Amino acid sequence: MQALRDATQALHAQLDSQLPLARPADARQSLGHYHGHLRVLHGWLQDLAPLLQRAGWGLDPLEPLRADLAEAGLAGDPPGQAGPLPGTDIAHAWGVAYVVEGSQLGGRVLFQRLRRAGVQAPLRYLEGRGPGTGAHWNGFLQALRTALAQPAEVQAACQAACWAFEDLLARFRRQGMVP
Ligand code: HEM
Repeated sequence: MQALRDATQALHAQLDSQLPLARPADARQSLGHYHGHLRVLHGWLQDLAPLLQRAGWGLDPLEPLRADLAEAGLAGDPPGQAGPLPGTDIAHAWGVAYVVEGSQLGGRVLFQRLRRAGVQAPLRYLEGRGPGTGAHWNGFLQALRTALAQPAEVQAACQAACWAFEDLLARFRRQGMVP
């Protein structure tokens, strides 16, 4: 757990400080940022789906994300844009699931920020499990600890988690959304 956190901290800080969605804006701009965010995540999550399926975690965000895009009449980015995977072992799958499950924690913060900015549209993706987010995260961490017993497995998970962050950053860069 701590290894995954340490390995990805700097990459998370990049997203946190550079994503348009995390910047203060008025209601109209915020909603635009949200939709841009969902489009990119749509392609990313679909490309990660086979790994998430292996781990058995991290697939839930796709459905609310699709519902918000559909309601706004928008299409998400298509799959097939991921760079080469570092591996497809079960340990790699857990590393990727860590990134996707973890992203739901920041979603809570962003949900409240967008509501405060006056966004009234449904924010199903950010809302996620709502008040159940913490309990779900704890359940995930427990499963993660059981799944990654050997140092080599932890290392593979860290490698895959960094890859998932970098792949996401590359997509935001291609859209001109982060420098
Ligand atoms: C889609 C982009 C993002 C991804 C993939 C992502 C990923 C993660 C991950 C993996 C964690 C778990 C860290 C841990 O081990 O405890 C996390 C936690 C968190 N993230 Fe993000 N994050 C994203 C965007 C953001 C943004 C834009 C913010 C800005 C508010 C943010 C704020 C947070 C917060 C507040 C936590 C919880 C820290 C805690 O409660 O301990 N995240 N995120």
